[in-house]
Amino acid sequence: MSVAPTLLSQSIALDGLPEDLAVELIKVARTRPVKAGSAVFETGDPGDGFYALLEGSLRVILRGEEGEQVLALLSPGAIFGEMSLFDGEPRSASVVAAKSSRVAFFDKAAVFRFADDNPAVYRHMMCIVGRRLRASNATLAARSLLPLTGRVAQTMLHLSDMFGKDVGGGRRLVHHKISQADLAAMVGAARENVSRVLNDWKREGLISRISGYYCIEDQTALKALATL
Ligand code: CMP
Repeated sequence: MSVAPTLLSQSIALDGLPEDLAVELIKVARTRPVKAGSAVFETGDPGDGFYALLEGSLRVILRGEEGEQVLALLSPGAIFGEMSLFDGEPRSASVVAAKSSRVAFFDKAAVFRFADDNPAVYRHMMCIVGRRLRASNATLAARSLLPLTGRVAQTMLHLSDMFGKDVGGGRRLVHHKISQADLAAMVGAARENVSRVLNDWKREGLISRISGYYCIEDQTALKALATL
């Protein structure tokens, strides 16, 4: 199914690809809905192309015997599935809809044909991979070097970067319903411990809850906690 070209190109351009190239690239895209809870693909599936998230939100997860690790939450404009495209290996993680979503799929052969003629696409993709690696390094470092409060603060600030809206007075509303279980899976800690940190912060006025969303009341304090 096709989608309004402007919506698609703006979504992709959001992640940094020059808009004129995005407009051309979307000609090879196919869009499809993804129901809440359904997978776009699973770990180990063949990497037959990459995707852009147009609407909704997605969770990038690794499943194990002990549960699942949430590697990232994706918001509209995010590009994903590019790793298998480049290394030819199967999907490195599962991508599951956190809520009803719509994605655009870009077939591998068509992407390579287009990118060979427009190397800026490769540059853009390298940027995405570089950003992912930086984010992974920061998470890795935080896991071994920061106490729990710092790791929760880092995760909250990351969510704020992706889903945050300024609501005045330096406050940021994280406009995405996130469960404590997901937060704990992102932080890499037990849900009860993450819950204790959040309750302390609510009492101390660092965060609040507005209509089921987290609101960061004191960004400076969270940034200080998240600093290595
Ligand atoms: P691919 O391996 O093709 O399929 C799974 C996708 O999840 C992967 O490409 C990336 O696009 C995405 N992904 C993997 N690891 C991370 C991560 N740490 N943060 C954000 N996205 C990731």
